Amino acid sequence: MRRKMAAGNWKMNGTQVSLAELAAMQGMSKGTVEVLICPPATLIYAGAGLKTGIAIGAQDCHVAEGGAHTGDISAPMLADAGATYVITGHSERRQDHGETDADVLAKTEAAWAAGLKVILCIGESLEQREDGSTLDVLAAQLKGSVPEGSTGANLVIAYEPIWAIGTGKVPSTQQITEVHRFLRTELASRFGDEVAGAMRLLYGGSVKASNAAEIFAVADVDGALVGGASLKAADFMPIVSALN
Ligand code: G3P
Repeated sequence: MRRKMAAGNWKMNGTQVSLAELAAMQGMSKGTVEVLICPPATLIYAGAGLKTGIAIGAQDCHVAEGGAHTGDISAPMLADAGATYVITGHSERRQDHGETDADVLAKTEAAWAAGLKVILCIGESLEQREDGSTLDVLAAQLKGSVPEGSTGANLVIAYEPIWAIGTGKVPSTQQITEVHRFLRTELASRFGDEVAGAMRLLYGGSVKASNAAEIFAVADVDGALVGGASLKAADFMPIVSALN
């Protein structure tokens, strides 16, 4: 039985005052639903210190443990600050920082080495969706970025169609069904039924209170990776509730 997950990615949003939103989320993480917030790195330590019961994650990590990498943050540093998860492979990192599948794989392994769990993002562009190559693109991303040794305990996959991120556009339930079933099957062929069956698959892209229940009703959707609607406790709460 896979535990449902509601994960919030605050992206480059949030200052000290935003900790009040995190505090207001206290109690949202219950038995059947795990709640995670990935604030900007500047809020990880304080966010973890609030002891809300909500897991705190980072949005990226460097592959090295330390060294001459100005401006970067290593996985052990994130763990030291109180993070238990890190997002790798988000399309904004792939696009804005030129991260390749190989980079994502290396970052995922670095995160594991520091004891962090990973939410690894994949997703197709609008052009790829329209030219019919979505499943091929996703298969290639899985192959190139998901490391050997992946399990339901150390990895969560987030399917985030790039064209649905922050746009208000959401794929149809048929499209989400097709992709999530495909991902589960691909993972099973590589890691076996047991591992694939234990791995959580999140959907991400314009999830909000009004569409969450419909998305969560799709087979093989184990929760969501939420951007904009995770910034305020009042917006995030109904999404978490839709998982219960
Ligand atoms: O990682 C979450 C994200 O990319 C989705 O963002 O704002 O469309 O929910 P949003």
